[in-house]
Amino acid sequence: MKIDGKSYKTIWFENNLVKIIDQTKLPHQFKIKDLKTVKDAINAIKTMEVRGAPLIGATAAYGLVLSIIENNDLSFLKKSSEQLIASRPTAINLKWAIDRMMKKLNGINEKDILKIALDEAKSIKDEDEGFCKNIGLNGLKIIEEISNKKKGTVNILTHCNAGWLATIDWGTATSPIYHAHQKGIKVHVWVDETRPRNQGANLTSYELNEEGISNTVITDNAGGILMQRGQVDMCIVGTDRTLSNGDVCNKIGTYLKALSAKDNNVPFYVALPSSTIDWSIKDHKQIPIEERNSEELSHVEGIDENNVIKKVRIYPQKSKSLNLAFDVTPAKLVTGLITEKGICEASEKGLKGLFK
Ligand code: MRU
Repeated sequence: MKIDGKSYKTIWFENNLVKIIDQTKLPHQFKIKDLKTVKDAINAIKTMEVRGAPLIGATAAYGLVLSIIENNDLSFLKKSSEQLIASRPTAINLKWAIDRMMKKLNGINEKDILKIALDEAKSIKDEDEGFCKNIGLNGLKIIEEISNKKKGTVNILTHCNAGWLATIDWGTATSPIYHAHQKGIKVHVWVDETRPRNQGANLTSYELNEEGISNTVITDNAGGILMQRGQVDMCIVGTDRTLSNGDVCNKIGTYLKALSAKDNNVPFYVALPSSTIDWSIKDHKQIPIEERNSEELSHVEGIDENNVIKKVRIYPQKSKSLNLAFDVTPAKLVTGLITEKGICEASEKGLKGLFK
């Protein structure tokens, strides 16, 4: 998608370097950063210079490429893969990408390994782009239906950033919105601010603005009243890990939006590529929920009138805080899963019907 009218992907490989858009600087500064070593890739994931489940997966895959360039040795590669997997715990795409890369590289000789690693990382990247495009085409049908019935602007609420910045391109939750907009359907997006890191306000609103899509940033607690007032036609969110039973783990606060949607008969959709499905665990209590630094809660960052970026404390130094980064929305609250293969019920039957 576009920034300042120019098309970008979120990650690419050039001159033996991995290039990323540093998302910790957005929306105030647009900076492309070079990742030179596997440590740089691990750091980029940990500090959220790159974030969003599919993009974390692609960065990890390219992290292994950097590991081979740095030191073409099997034990170094294994150590790199373990460190990459541990860099963020919740999004399953990270482990999925590393497992896929290591399987492909198993038994490959030193001479060929770099080329094969590069090809596989590129396939993961290109595949995600295709998946997200198809998610958009599938989700577009739902927006079209609402638009035809309503004969007016379709109001869509989204949480966090499951936009193109969280993937390679298109996004998951935003892809149906981009496709609808390109088709001339009138859409307006309610963007949850998404405290504490404000991915909604900083990233989703930013990317929608760049594509010329009408959007309004709201506080994380405003969704309920908007739904009661009939100002939300549907919700679409992303996910970091979807269980085979249809339970959905996503950014903290997603669950409360789903409860509110249920109470107000607002359809609540989750958009995901198949790389986000965890077929291995059955109980959501087994999902490792990331707990991040309390400074993300106690401080906010913004730009002042002199264009200087500043970080300030917002509550007493003495106060304790708990910064859980994700929650789980039970399948019973999910209207449907929008995937690259089609839309299905949030259930084992639904998912297995699409992904045998
Ligand atoms: O902590 P983040 O910013 O990586 O969390 C991102 C989300 O929760 C997204 O909704 C999810 O990764 C899906 S991205 C298409």
